[in-house]
Order: sequence, then structure tokens, then C-alpha cells
Amino acid sequence: MFTIGAKVIMSDNNSANTATQKQVVLTGAQPTGRLHLGNYLGAALNWKKMQDDYTCFFMIANQHAITVPTVAAELRKNTYSCLAQYMACGLDPAKSSLFAQSQVIGHTELAWILGCLCPLGQLERMTQFKDKAKKQISVGAGLLYYPALMAADILLYNAHVVPVGEDQKQHLEITRDLADKFNATYSPTFNVPAPFIGKAGARVMSLQNPTSKMSKSDPNQAGTVYIVDTDDVIRKKIMSAVTDSEGSIRADAENKPGVTNLISIYSAVTGTSVADIEAEFAGKGYGDFKKAVADAVVAMLSPIRTRYEELVSQKDYLDSVLKAGAEAAQRAANRTLSKVYRKVGFLQ
Ligand code: TYM
Repeated sequence: MFTIGAKVIMSDNNSANTATQKQVVLTGAQPTGRLHLGNYLGAALNWKKMQDDYTCFFMIANQHAITVPTVAAELRKNTYSCLAQYMACGLDPAKSSLFAQSQVIGHTELAWILGCLCPLGQLERMTQFKDKAKKQISVGAGLLYYPALMAADILLYNAHVVPVGEDQKQHLEITRDLADKFNATYSPTFNVPAPFIGKAGARVMSLQNPTSKMSKSDPNQAGTVYIVDTDDVIRKKIMSAVTDSEGSIRADAENKPGVTNLISIYSAVTGTSVADIEAEFAGKGYGDFKKAVADAVVAMLSPIRTRYEELVSQKDYLDSVLKAGAEAAQRAANRTLSKVYRKVGFLQ
């Protein structure tokens, strides 16, 4: 059983999940282009490790992607590219269901029902809504409704565990509230899912502005390492990461955010503890340390890029993976949706 720090909450109100059955994992990323080091260390690396111990549904959140303006051709291309990146990171269609959210009927249907149970104020308080709304000229209602759709993604599969980075914690809280609320309003139906947030890499920061999280939308792209960046680009970005003038390699998030971020990255990549890293680099300079970080990140990402490049052009193969994944997901979704419709009083 994959246990690192996971607080698995099992509800005993779901007879479908007996002690002998594997627990269910549902998670995903938005297909907004290339996954970055934060997506990998905070999420995909844990997803890969969970595949043997859980029944895993790995979704490409393309319905979430249109909560901000998108171009159809790009979204389509990014969906395939996201799948190729998932697979290059080690998500294995022989073990897990890989699919695009739009290929399964039920996500938006359940989102509507959950949204009707969700207080407006709770949606308006979401940090990601406030951050993203600030960046839009005109804010679509979908952006506000986003957490109800995310809750539906999770509850549609009656997931027990949701592996995510730290920035998704608030969305998981709303999901748990909605599961409780549905169970109390109708009758026990959903597991109350637990977030799984890894100890290392749960919040990778920008290399250029280490007080902000690493992100695809960072205007300073030198701060974001993509998993398909070339070795040279990765090295250049890490070697020019912002540090401080103190010159010592020790973790201190408040006073040394840049160095602390590099230590966390190195720790997540190599599995070395922070204390051991501080000891290993005692008396050494930032140049030596950055070089070690760059070597470790390149060694980890280089095979992923190679595999991605092999996969991304195989559209028929990618389509076949999505089709099989969506079929398995649809079977699970149908079971939940039919139960939910019955409880709500919807004709089917
Ligand atoms: P998204 O696409 O923003 O990110 C995908 C995953 O990467 C994690 N992550 C990070 N982890 C560490 N450091 C960072 N700098 C960093 N940036 C991103 C995210 O926490 C996430 O786990 N709303 C979700 C997609 C989604 C979803 C779901 C996830 C839709 N439905 C249901 C789980 C369950 C999102 O936009 O992730």
C-alpha cells in the first residue's frame, strides 16, 4: 500500500468498496500546454507510484480548461500532448484509466447537482477564483463554478484519495463539504475523499520569483522548468535561479526563499532529506549546489522528454488509449450517476 503521508479516509457508507477491493484514486491536470516541474514533483510523480495499489483514474481536465479563454485547435492539440506527457511520466494505460474529461458523460451533470448544494459565498472565497478572475477582462460564470466541477470529477468515481499539489487543498475541502452535504441531504452515497499531498515537492516555487508558485502562466518563463525542456534549457534556468547574498546552503523559507526552493526540489528529486542536503553542501557555494540540482533534474527529466517525443506524434495510439480509458471511466461514472439521479428524484 502506498502510504507516504496519506491520510486515507474511508467511509463505511459505500458498500461497493469492500476491504478486499482497491481504493479509488481520481486526479488530473488541465491541458494548458506543457507540464512543469511543479506538476511533476507535486502531482505526477505520486500518481505514477500509486498505480499498483489503487484503481486509478487519471483525467485530462479539458472542461476546466475552458473556464478561461481557449482556442479550439490548441485545446485539442494540448489534450493529446497532455496524454503523451502523462504516459511519458509513467502513467500506464495497462494499469490505469487515462481519458479526457469531455469523453465521459457525467462530470458536468454531477457538477450541476453539486453546484445547487454549494453556497455561493464558498465559491466566491476560493483563492484560485480570486487570482484567476483578477487576470480576466470578463469573468465567465464557469470560473466561479470550477470547484463544483472539480468536486464532481472526484465524486463521480467515488474516489477515496486525490493526489494533488498544495494549491488544490482548498478545492479538496469544498469537495469534502459537498460529499457530506449530499450524503446528509439525500442519503449516504459518496466517500468523503482525502487529499494526498506529498511531503516533498508539494509546492514548487518559481525559480525567478521564489515567493510565487511555479506556474505555466508566470510572465517570467525563466522561472518555470517544463518537463519537456531540453537539457540545456533546464540547466540554464536552474543556474540562473534567484538566490540571496548570504552564501550558505540552508533552508529558511522566510529569509532564503530561493535557496529553500532549490533545496526542496533537490530533496524531491533525489529523495535526500533537507538536513542531509544541508550537511552535504556545508561550506560549498551556490554555483556548486545549483549544478548538483541541475544535474539531478536533467537526469530525471531527460528520459521523460525522449519518451514524450516518441509518443506525441502517435495520434492513433493516443486515441486508442483515450478510448479505452474513457470506456472504463464511463462504466464507473454511470453507476454513480444513476444512483445520484435516483436519490435526487430525476427521471432517467
Ligand atoms: P493543474 O493543472 O493546475 O495542476 C496539476 C497538478 O499539479 C499540481 N501543481 C503543483 N504542485 C507543486 N508545485 C506547483 N508549483 C504546482 N502547480 C501545480 C496541482 O496541485 C495539481 O495536482 N484543478 C486542477 C485539475 C483538476 C483536478 C480535478 C485535480 C480538475 N479536476 C480533480 C484533482 C481532482 C488543476 O487545475 O490542476
